[in-house]
Amino acid sequence: MSKKLKIITYGCQMNVADSERMSARLQSIGYAPTDALDDADLILINTCSVRESAEEKILGKIGEIKRLKMQKPSLILGVTGCMAQKDGDQLIKRAPHIDFVLGTGRQSELLRIVRLLESFHRHIVVTDGVSDPIVEEIYTPRGAHSTFIPIMYGCNNFCTYCIVPHVRGRERSRQPEDIIREIQAAVDNGTVEVTLLGQNVNSYGKDHRRATFAQLLTMVGEIDGLKRIRFMTSHPKDLSDELIKAIADNEKICRHIHLPVQYGSDRLLQKMNRGYTVEQYRRLVEKLRAEVPSIALTTDLIVGFPSETDADFDETLKFVREMRFDAAFTFIYSRRSGTPAATFDDQIDDRIKHERLEKLMAVQNAISLEINERLKDQEFEVLVEGASKNDEKIFIGRTRTNKLVLFEHGDERAGDFIRVRITQPQTWLLRAERI
Ligand code: SAH
Ligand code: SF4
Ligand code: F3S
Repeated sequence: MSKKLKIITYGCQMNVADSERMSARLQSIGYAPTDALDDADLILINTCSVRESAEEKILGKIGEIKRLKMQKPSLILGVTGCMAQKDGDQLIKRAPHIDFVLGTGRQSELLRIVRLLESFHRHIVVTDGVSDPIVEEIYTPRGAHSTFIPIMYGCNNFCTYCIVPHVRGRERSRQPEDIIREIQAAVDNGTVEVTLLGQNVNSYGKDHRRATFAQLLTMVGEIDGLKRIRFMTSHPKDLSDELIKAIADNEKICRHIHLPVQYGSDRLLQKMNRGYTVEQYRRLVEKLRAEVPSIALTTDLIVGFPSETDADFDETLKFVREMRFDAAFTFIYSRRSGTPAATFDDQIDDRIKHERLEKLMAVQNAISLEINERLKDQEFEVLVEGASKNDEKIFIGRTRTNKLVLFEHGDERAGDFIRVRITQPQTWLLRAERI
């Protein structure tokens, strides 16, 4: 009987990609994935520390697993990812039923650690090497129609609120030929869409200088059989004209860019260390929309950053109205110890943070709905992703502009391209009928 593996993933797509890789590695030594926690012989919790709320949820989950460990003492519980990197052995002090903690820098040691624990049950903590050179290992996804491909690791930007550079280390880009080889293998296995991942993909290749991100996109575009290319995240300060041109010139590149602005006032952008002004962001968006007219634009926004005034916040609301983002992920500023902003004076009261978030969401939701309402009766090609979570008869797909489309299932399968007509646009999704 094979051993069973369950990975619980929190956080961003980088973590999703890491979980897929860890799963592939563990399958090679006999672990079969299971959905049922109760069944598992090995549970990995792949963690995120970007906001306090994420960490609280994860600590709760780790606590829940204690019961399972008591029922099945041979169960191995590992904590990986960003919180593992950040908190290391503190996690085991807090929850001694954790068997191992593996940071982001030494994922290549996963199998060694699991094998050790299979014979000797004792605590292992590995959190060194956060900025070490990439240990290259080409991963061959099994038949997924859409695949996440990390193209670089780490971040050099040190936005003053952000923990990511501290838990993911410095920027390191993979070699272009490794990336191409991996995508080719995925396409040979049925992938039609890839999402190229990095904390700041626009600065891809600045370390090894073998290719810029624009050049990489062009190379990926030449892979036969690959139909759609997505990427995230783009940092406004590194979005070059060369890149805008590469997007415009290549039909395989989806008409969507996620371009986090974070805030709409220069004073706060500077305190956040974002490296651009409101006016520079505005110019960039004008250029993008001129060169790639159909492009959808999404963003991230943070409210309640230290010293934020009503006037700053009003500027942001005004800017959001002006930009007309298709959608925005809005966050309440979370104080992360070890980051500069955690020590800034004038931390904002929780109540005010929540009030501002509500206001911002109301403004953005109205815009998202207005934009989507204009799509009524329009036709789109969507890539089918599969059944929706709540209703097996309703299927989900995505347009090239990354809009979520729901439609009644016929005979199509995940990975198919179909045409739909929008019947009922909503704020976060579009209801449609197949044509
Ligand atoms: N590298 C990406 C994403 C980083 S994390 C980028 O630069 O855009 C995703 C989002 O979480 C960020 O864009 C930011 O809006 C938000 N975020 C990061 N740190 C945060 C914090 N301390 N509090 C609240 N939101 C935060
Ligand atoms: Fe965090 Fe800024 Fe890096 Fe994004 S660019 S990961 S927000 S430090
Ligand atoms: Fe979270 Fe780490 Fe991603 S902190 S957002 S999982 S890089």
